[in-house]
Amino acid sequence: MTKVLIATEKPFSKSAVEAIRKVTETAGYELALLEKYTEKKQLLDAVADADALIVRSDKVDADVVDAAKRLKIVVRAGAGFDNLDLKACTAHQVVAMNTPGQNANSVAELVFGLLVFGVRNFYNGTSGSELKGKKLGILAFGNVGRNVARIAKGFGMDIYAYDAFCPAEAIEQAGVHAVSSQEEMFDICDIVSLHIPATAETRQSINHDLVGRMKKGGILINTARKEVVDEAGLIRLMEERTDLMYITDIKPDADAEFAEKFAGRYFATPKKMGAQTAEANSNAGIAAANQIVGFLEQGITKFQLNK
Ligand code: 3PG
Repeated sequence: MTKVLIATEKPFSKSAVEAIRKVTETAGYELALLEKYTEKKQLLDAVADADALIVRSDKVDADVVDAAKRLKIVVRAGAGFDNLDLKACTAHQVVAMNTPGQNANSVAELVFGLLVFGVRNFYNGTSGSELKGKKLGILAFGNVGRNVARIAKGFGMDIYAYDAFCPAEAIEQAGVHAVSSQEEMFDICDIVSLHIPATAETRQSINHDLVGRMKKGGILINTARKEVVDEAGLIRLMEERTDLMYITDIKPDADAEFAEKFAGRYFATPKKMGAQTAEANSNAGIAAANQIVGFLEQGITKFQLNK
């Protein structure tokens, strides 16, 4: 019997797991669950007899692929796939996919939850400020960025975006000002929201000099990946510039140092919360399950990452 394993260190909602079960059982597959695991060994053991794997930010490296002798497909239920070793997947003839867009609204809504919290001084009782009229920079303009723009319009924000891979016309068509570089965005905007993937090009690209271009009172918000921020550079900058605020949904490695040095202008969620809604879990989980069935039954390779 075909076995699908959901391996999630950070579990899906119960309703999402049930929805995935419905899809897989309808296809005649067995569904196994490994949640909140703490050791890599648990994952290595669990994948041993899995034909298909659904993960979130769980690391699927060469060891995992090697231990999964029957594995034919792994689907990252979400957008960013920096946790998948695509070369190892290809070497083992495992198809790797993601589910782009499925959790984008959830992440975008969190951006505004965190921003209101930030501009109201983390609800400490003092007078803060409003988002209305503020210049918001969106880097970059993918599924999450577009949802951020949509919601920002409701707040009455002045919206700018930069995306190295999206033409300026497409950004303008969405009713957003297109800027010609990251530098220009940091020069212009009061708030910059990061939505870039972690790649060789973007790693540590949000650095001292770039963020240092922001005007007084600038806010950097990161719901993307911790790896894109040069933490040492940002710490140095926030020491020099006591007006800047950093809000992040991904705890930096130097979280304790940020928290100690920048009380009142630094906040990190205890656990990445962007995609933690029942809706996002269901959307991404069901999409992952359907993509597995589509691939195993009909060879459909839409959303394959290692072509
Ligand atoms: C994504 O890349 O889809 C988001 O960062 C969500 O990640 P998560 O599934 O680990 O919460």
